Amino acid sequence: MSPSRSALAVVLAAGEGTRMKSQTPKVLHEVAGRSMLGHVLARLSEAGIAHVCVVVGPGQTEVRAQALQQVPQAQIFVQNERRGTAHAVLAAQDALAGQYDDVIVLFADTPLITSSTIMSMRAALAAGAGVVALGFVAEKPFGYGRLLKDDTGQLAAIVEEKDASQSQREINLCNAGLMAIDGRHALSLLKRVNDRNVKKEFYLTDIVALARGDGLIAQIAIADELEVLGVNDWQQLAQAEAVAQSRLRQRAMAQGVTMIAPETVFLAEDTTFGRDVRLEPYVVIGQGVSIADEATIYSYTHLEGVRIGAGAMIGPFARLRPGVDLAEKVKVGNFVEIKNATVAMGAKINHLSYVGDADIGAKANIGAGVITCNYDGFFKYRTQIGAQAFIGSNSSLVAPVEIGDGAYVGSGSVVTKNIASDALGVARGQQREIPGWAAKFRAAQAEKKAKK
Ligand code: UD1
Ligand code: CA
Repeated sequence: MSPSRSALAVVLAAGEGTRMKSQTPKVLHEVAGRSMLGHVLARLSEAGIAHVCVVVGPGQTEVRAQALQQVPQAQIFVQNERRGTAHAVLAAQDALAGQYDDVIVLFADTPLITSSTIMSMRAALAAGAGVVALGFVAEKPFGYGRLLKDDTGQLAAIVEEKDASQSQREINLCNAGLMAIDGRHALSLLKRVNDRNVKKEFYLTDIVALARGDGLIAQIAIADELEVLGVNDWQQLAQAEAVAQSRLRQRAMAQGVTMIAPETVFLAEDTTFGRDVRLEPYVVIGQGVSIADEATIYSYTHLEGVRIGAGAMIGPFARLRPGVDLAEKVKVGNFVEIKNATVAMGAKINHLSYVGDADIGAKANIGAGVITCNYDGFFKYRTQIGAQAFIGSNSSLVAPVEIGDGAYVGSGSVVTKNIASDALGVARGQQREIPGWAAKFRAAQAEKKAKK
């Protein structure tokens, strides 16, 4: 394909998604930690298409905001009435008038589409097609438009299921929805679409027959059924999630990540891995996670918004929340929760701790059950722990508080004041010992019981 060909993508996102029965607009529901709309926009940028229009419904401010956050230069158009897919594309009329070589129409509820499919459709335009429809062979073609071929095997028209004859419904070559149109003809074709059909909608699919009538070539590109899965309900969203997860696992393994039970590991679109990372079974990774070389994540660990340094060992049963930055060789053990904290090289937080809003120095040792008390019900405060400090088990550090380098905190302390470097801070009741007390107590109680 000539790299000089210009392209405009029109992403249709105005649907209400009534079948999801949700307050959230359909295209904002997530697959692998990213909205369906976000997936489609990401594929466009991978395919090198920078001119993007998103067609939203009236009042869909959240959809608009998300689109602009991901693609700041995107143009947003509002389709005020939902009168069909061609009508929706025409909402972006002003952009379509911009004389692009290629116009690509995509549905925001088809999140598994790949950039290579988008590029192959552009290649067909470059080779001379006027319109390219994306088809797939459906096991059960119910609900989809059908691709009709002429005697020569060329695409002649697309007929929607509701308008199809009995014999047309037998066809299992279906319309995926994605369409590539020669930009010189796009507006003229779209404007001639009418709504004389069962649904009284302006069908985008009608441009195929119109293009043929104009003597243009109409072509079919083929995709795998799973790639073009359209999400209309929760069941299909879960299906899309399963496909996305299996792709992400394959990608991770191809990058050298070890997973002995990949089907139990959940990843996000943006998860990044170094070399020789090991993920044990039942690890769940949300958005914004990077894991450096030779780190191991043990079972039942949940990560989100975390940077994990090389050689770190996390879990089992650890929960790392957003804003955590772990340096090399940090160890985080079972039932430890960390959020919004930095942990320097080689520090250990091995058992049953909560560390929030804290900075922990290199090689510090945080004992079992240590809690940073970071919140007073109104504001959050930070805890600073110096390099090689040792925090005894079951201590509470009441923030804001600073423990100096190399300092010790006696076990069971409730620390409310700073502790200087290399000092010992102890803040707990003094231990007393009363010799023989227990023996006397037992004897007295036994006598009492005998008298009853
Ligand atoms: C459409 C295709 C059908 C194809 C199927 C694949 C048409 C006429 N039909 O049918 O051939 O097999 O997708 O999934 O194109 N939208 C708007 N505004 C509207 C109408 C739709 O923005 O007025 C958006 C929706 O948000 C959605 C997409 O366009 O993202 C598709 O609309 P939908 O109503 O789901 O089309 P289907 O009936 O599934
Ligand atoms: Ca649909």
